[in-house]
Amino acid sequence: MKSILITGGAGFIGSHVVKLFVRKYPDYRIINLDCLTYAGNLENLKEVEHASNYHFSKINILDEDSLRKVFNDFQITDVIHLAAESHVDRSITDPLAFVRTNVIGTVNLLNAAKSFWKNPEGHLFYHVSTDEVYGSLDDGGFFTETTPYDPQSPYSASKAASDHFVRAYANTYKLNMVISNCSNNYGPNQFPEKLIPLCIHNIKHNKPLPVYGKGENIRDWLYVEDHATAIDKVFHHGKSGETYNIGGFNEWKNIDIVHLLCQKMDEILGRESGTSEKLITFVKDRAGHDLRYAIDASKIQQELGWEPSLQFEEGIHKTILWYLENETWLEHVTSGDYQKYYEAHYGH
Ligand code: NAD
Ligand code: DAU
Repeated sequence: MKSILITGGAGFIGSHVVKLFVRKYPDYRIINLDCLTYAGNLENLKEVEHASNYHFSKINILDEDSLRKVFNDFQITDVIHLAAESHVDRSITDPLAFVRTNVIGTVNLLNAAKSFWKNPEGHLFYHVSTDEVYGSLDDGGFFTETTPYDPQSPYSASKAASDHFVRAYANTYKLNMVISNCSNNYGPNQFPEKLIPLCIHNIKHNKPLPVYGKGENIRDWLYVEDHATAIDKVFHHGKSGETYNIGGFNEWKNIDIVHLLCQKMDEILGRESGTSEKLITFVKDRAGHDLRYAIDASKIQQELGWEPSLQFEEGIHKTILWYLENETWLEHVTSGDYQKYYEAHYGH
């Protein structure tokens, strides 16, 4: 039986991966390991929290003893590693927090896997990474799996370092591993510090929409459930030692996304057209702001048969409705209430 340790399962992407695996694979045991930082929230997993094949362990990946124990207690066969500090702006103010969780935490997890899997055959360590490791595309083209690493922010440097450690462990200790590097995700459960949920929240409450610089930076957006199905494909059919880029073939300038959100929300909220656009406020640019990311996802498309299922406008519509319908979730994650919810459910 597979007993899969999914780290960061209470976060944005992790919660969608956990839900997909718990429901789709009733014969697998899914262990969600998460220390519940500000970005982790068990309310994201309400639909599966009582499933018999689901277990939650509140553990920090910096805690080596607890990692060893969880491998042993649950006889872990495979790892899908998503736990990370994920916000670029926070990495600019506190780079060491990113070194600790993203680099040291990943090495701790690799060590736990290496010592528990005496024979690495039949086991897989899957590291979920980002397209930001490739740097910034300032003059056209796409990131492919062979684009040299050129991280530009403390966040992307920490993710690049962790990717390198995963590859080094595969080479040195013969660990089976796969890495996927994905573009910007959006959708339900994303903490409202990231561009899309931040704007939805601020439009709803008539607050300024902070656009960095001139809003001309470009990102390639993918609906989070499509990322989860890509992770499912890579986990089951990816070739050991390989990297897969995941993206939406869906590039947008930030300012165009903000306009789109304003238009859609004016419609949905019954506001006069143009009302929300007045909230747009150009602010100081992010330090070292990468200009453009764009993924060439043809390898995963051709080799594993994956492609995104949702058009952007449809995904944005669903996302706006989700945030409007989940105002309590927003209040919990942005206030101390979430701690109360956690204590009431888990008693510690
Ligand atoms: P997130 O910030 O929403 O969630 C991260 C989760 O990790 C949270 O539940 C948090 O509690 C947990 N965590 C953080 N530090 C931990 C620690 N020391 N020990 C245990 N748990 C810890 O992040 P996300 O946006 O869901 O991203 C998940 C992964 O996917 C990250 O590795 C990120 O680099 C990668 N990624 C994200 C995107 C994106 O657009 N969000 C795109 C590509 C790749
Ligand atoms: O590309 C994948 C990466 O995408 C992931 O690895 C990261 O974990 C994830 O956070 C995301 O990084 P970005 O920095 O691209 O996402 P963010 O939502 O923070 O910003 C998107 C763009 O919008 C970026 O160009 C900065 C800009 N921005 C962001 C915020 C929060 C603004 O203009 N204003 C804002 O308030």
